[in-house]
Amino acid sequence: MATPTQLLKLALFSGGVSATGNTIAQYLVSRTPESTQSASKNSSLIPGYEPVQALRFFAYGAAFTPFSYRWHAFLNWRFPIGSTIKTAASKKLGESDVVQSAAQRVGMVLKRVAIDQAVFAPLATGAFVFGMGALEGLGPSELLERGRTQYMDILLVSYALWPAAQLINFSAIPLAYRVPFGSTVSLFWNTYLGWSSWKAKQSQKPHTPAARAIAGPEVASAN
Ligand SMILES: *[C@@H]1O[C@H](CO)[C@@H](O)[C@H](O)[C@H]1NC(C)=O
Ligand SMILES: *[C@@H]1O[C@H](CO)[C@@H](O)[C@H](O)[C@H]1NC(C)=O
Repeated sequence: MATPTQLLKLALFSGGVSATGNTIAQYLVSRTPESTQSASKNSSLIPGYEPVQALRFFAYGAAFTPFSYRWHAFLNWRFPIGSTIKTAASKKLGESDVVQSAAQRVGMVLKRVAIDQAVFAPLATGAFVFGMGALEGLGPSELLERGRTQYMDILLVSYALWPAAQLINFSAIPLAYRVPFGSTVSLFWNTYLGWSSWKAKQSQKPHTPAARAIAGPEVASAN
């Protein structure tokens, strides 16, 4: 079990990964042809950068950490991934004390990935779509529309990414690199989420004044 200090550090780190992923997404969006041809196009590294959106990702990433932490603690307990050989290093990195054969290990990884994707992914996706929408100040009907436009897309991309990432993590990545590997995948994931949120905002912009206000003064004045 993590101490409150460890959990806080983890939350700040996850928030940082989320905000960085969102910033990369904003950078990529600013490079697309359809992004606004404003005068400031090349005067800054990320034209039209919205720090407040990166801040929302930071807040969301940090706030969600206790939930994902508890879930992973549950998975570790219920579906322990043992090592084929017990080493001091594996123990330090929190692998369970169970020593498993390679086949048992694969079985456990498959079960764990299946439970994770069947139970946690749909909930985490909903939490993100509605949590982020709430942080953007959307009202109930806008939140529902956000859910309609974003939920299935995110869930499907989640299914395309996370099971593969987890299988690779547990079968091909050396123990010492698994946590950094997880953070790297999470960075890509948050870049995708940042892009998905941008797209959802774009599609809501024309008919919802609130979304227009949130999209920033630049966009609001352009209309
Ligand atoms: C922006 O790009 C244009 C060409 O696309 C160039 O003429 C201009 O000098 C650039 N402005 C700045 C501030 O770099
Ligand atoms: C990989 O495994 C580590 C340690 O078991 C975990 O912290 C990390 O979240 C995992 N990453 C992925 C992508 O499954």
